[in-house]
Amino acid sequence: MQIISTIDELRARLADERAVAFVPTMGNLHEGHLNLVKLAREHGDCVVASIFVNPLQFGPSEDFDRYPRTLEADCAKLQGLADVVFAPAVNEMYPAQQTVFVEPPPIADELCGASRPGHFRGMATVVLKLLNIVQPQAALFGKKDYQQLHIIRRMVSELNLPVRIVGGETVRADDGLALSSRNQYLSAGERGEAVFLYRTLQGMKQAILQGERDFERLQGRAVEALAARGWLPDYVAVRNRFDLQPARHQGDLAQREWVILAAARLGNTRLLDNIEVCLVDCLAD
Ligand code: PAF
Repeated sequence: MQIISTIDELRARLADERAVAFVPTMGNLHEGHLNLVKLAREHGDCVVASIFVNPLQFGPSEDFDRYPRTLEADCAKLQGLADVVFAPAVNEMYPAQQTVFVEPPPIADELCGASRPGHFRGMATVVLKLLNIVQPQAALFGKKDYQQLHIIRRMVSELNLPVRIVGGETVRADDGLALSSRNQYLSAGERGEAVFLYRTLQGMKQAILQGERDFERLQGRAVEALAARGWLPDYVAVRNRFDLQPARHQGDLAQREWVILAAARLGNTRLLDNIEVCLVDCLAD
């Protein structure tokens, strides 16, 4: 496995590769990332993982400075799974102030975007830069960041990028908590409580499968249940799985596939989760 930190060296290394599968990450890798890297092997002959904490996607009061940077441990985990690790410094990706950005679709202002203005613009901009640098035939992203995956799919489709986007299933701890680099911010007590977010989504899914279609009532009850346990809910939303538009109300027989998305703060940690709800098997994305 080669560890490369400059764009020129990476381009030279990949020049003769015909089928690159790419997993962009911000490092501090856990099983969720490693699962994507393993899946990447099914989508290309050469697997590239990038590790780059992208300043453009953090707001001024967010955790850019304290975001865990664990390059050495990350490379050890990728050994035998990836062929190349691309780990550029900030001034390699942004040698001058970035003045050109991807304008993401309007959905980027909703859900996580409502409380993180500019986040998806910064995310989409770095993902486009990375795709241009690596030029993979496939790029893999986790469904844990469902809205991010949706926005990347829209960008790739509407900007005609020659890459196949593959979504990887969320990997969970034994109790069901979605793995995330931010879980390590949780205290021991918070870690025990954290799974309640997923349990809440599971309860909502059961209700929908049993015929509940008053999505607003469901959302409101979930927010109340989280708040009653000391969480600060950001949103809980039932959305159409394909366009992330609000789920329509009762009587709409055409709509059979939803995703329930939630973000809530537990202490100082903002946790994110989602669950797909399909009346029959989920259709391919
Ligand atoms: O999901 C992430 O880790 C980041 O948002 C990504 C896609 C690597 C872009 O910085």
